[in-house]
Amino acid sequence: MRTVYINGQFVAEDAAHVSIFDRGLLFADAVYEVFSVLDGRIIDYAAHMMRLERSLAEMTIDHDCSATDWPGLLAALIERNALTEGTIYLQISRGAADRDFLFPKAGTPATVFAFTQARALVFNPMAERGMRIITRPDRRWGRRDIKTVQLLYASMMKMEAKAAGVDDCWLVEGDVITEGTSQNACIITPNGHLVTRDLGHHILPGVTRLSLIDIARASGITVEERPFTIAEAQGAAEAFVTSASLFVMPVVEIDGLSVGDGRPGFETMALRRAYIEHARAQG
Ligand code: PDD
Repeated sequence: MRTVYINGQFVAEDAAHVSIFDRGLLFADAVYEVFSVLDGRIIDYAAHMMRLERSLAEMTIDHDCSATDWPGLLAALIERNALTEGTIYLQISRGAADRDFLFPKAGTPATVFAFTQARALVFNPMAERGMRIITRPDRRWGRRDIKTVQLLYASMMKMEAKAAGVDDCWLVEGDVITEGTSQNACIITPNGHLVTRDLGHHILPGVTRLSLIDIARASGITVEERPFTIAEAQGAAEAFVTSASLFVMPVVEIDGLSVGDGRPGFETMALRRAYIEHARAQG
């Protein structure tokens, strides 16, 4: 059984409870982060914490992350669960208060918890065969740049992908791709440029996306942050997604059409290896 962290304590997972009045539960009034762990160490810790603080600020959740020794606490969570490879989920809600659309009074303590999930990140069989995806309209709310727990639409679209016999779903506005259900979407154009959606309220600023842009630029690849359509992605040389849990994952089919030769792209796999190297070099 896992040991989890909740509101200042480490407890067995079945002893961790939140109130039925928690606003995370009643209003999805909570933000979160997913950190990946490799060789027992967190990848891109600082960028994840920065995004968490930004999410809290944008939601006006009054919680001071600097009052907690997060590096020490997450290291303890990793150690107590003997986690070498997997993810850590960390959630902060506005806390518990009698149900009211209006926010509770200042000083209501946030509900804070974190837990580990052991899983193979480097040797993921999907990296060998590539992901097949479908596209669906992006009907999420308009502040996708904030990492809230309001994930129902993404969850429903993953179920549609599963029902369609594919691996996941890219979300589109008109025919322009925003991002994957839980990853950022990227393509390699026929002339070798890496294209990924520009930042704004329409997508989550992925930490993996950010690291990968640096890695790509450092290796001489031109990166364009701009909108791209389904047709451009289908006609691209290669396609892939980025996320904390998938790293760089090739996409080989979009809405039934093969991307490139229908196999994981050469540049994509080189970027995946470079990202894993970047991850291992930390700590
Ligand atoms: N998802 N876009 C969305 C909508 C996401 O939910 C995620 C992450 C990303 C990629 O961000 P990052 O590279 O920082 O993981 C993009 C996480 C993994 C999740 O919810 O499980």
